[in-house]
Amino acid sequence: MKIFNDLADFANDEINALLQLANRLDRHPEPEALRGKVLSLLFMSPSLRTLASFQAAMIRLGGGSFVISPEMSIHGLETRPGIVMDGAAAEHIREAVPVIASYGDAIGIRAFAERKSLAADMAETDFFAMTDLIDTPWINMESAMNHPCQNLADWKTLDDLQVPANGGKFVLSWAYHSKALPLAVPASTLYMAARRGMDVTVLRPDGFALPDAIMDKARQAAAANGGSVLESTDRVEAMQGAHIIYAKSWSSTAAYGDKLGDLALRNELEHWCVDEPWFGNAREDCRFMHCLPVRRGVVVSEPVLDGPRSVVIHEARNRMLAQMAVLYQMLGAGA
Ligand code: CP
Repeated sequence: MKIFNDLADFANDEINALLQLANRLDRHPEPEALRGKVLSLLFMSPSLRTLASFQAAMIRLGGGSFVISPEMSIHGLETRPGIVMDGAAAEHIREAVPVIASYGDAIGIRAFAERKSLAADMAETDFFAMTDLIDTPWINMESAMNHPCQNLADWKTLDDLQVPANGGKFVLSWAYHSKALPLAVPASTLYMAARRGMDVTVLRPDGFALPDAIMDKARQAAAANGGSVLESTDRVEAMQGAHIIYAKSWSSTAAYGDKLGDLALRNELEHWCVDEPWFGNAREDCRFMHCLPVRRGVVVSEPVLDGPRSVVIHEARNRMLAQMAVLYQMLGAGA
């Protein structure tokens, strides 16, 4: 494996092999597998789980890693193409990225959406401007529209919980947040659940439909794998018989890049906070998933988050195991 960017780049048997490998490495640790290997980690955007789980994954496999982010004592990082660099930043990503990559055997890069132009973010313009500069293997640690490490970990969590692939009902629900958040997690989570063959409902208020291209990609994946994709603004209808509710806030497609327009749409939507009454007609064992970080009392009520429905800590631990599998296939013997 040279690139881990999108689950859509992998065949079903390749995804299953990664999931099996993640389970094997959990049961039978291989602390020498990546001895002497180095993973470079470039965080243009903040993180807790991705940062810690990649470092832990490398340590558990016998390798090492280093982290660079703009907040560190570096020279500032300019990202704009064609800029005259007479501002604060004294280093451009055109040099910094290949230099950082050259110190490792693979590089992970995180850069959230700029959220000015939907077309540019959908095309991953800024992210590919960085990956085009490197010739080592690379991992997407969350870009404008993708979060494949989260998706692989979430797939593993669904398997761990024995949620049926075909016939399992997955509700991806918009939740309130005071700010417009990126589309990477909802877009790629929708694809993951559809690709797993589940019956997926996107539950969201008016104005928060995901972009057509994202919905179409998910519908095609569902159709090819025995699942389905629906949209609803009706919570009771959407939650009927659900095995899983996966909550996430995201920005409006209609008002993308327009802070005030988005704010006007989300005004008075504070009641989109997942709470126990939401589960009234779901399966009794319906679980709550979220990629974290999550705002208590805003996205989800404290009793749900702290209660038996919540599997968010299990999900977060699976990040490390899923990434160990990716790193093993990318850098291990026989890679
Ligand atoms: N879920 C996730 O990617 O968490 P971090 O943003 O903390 O890395």
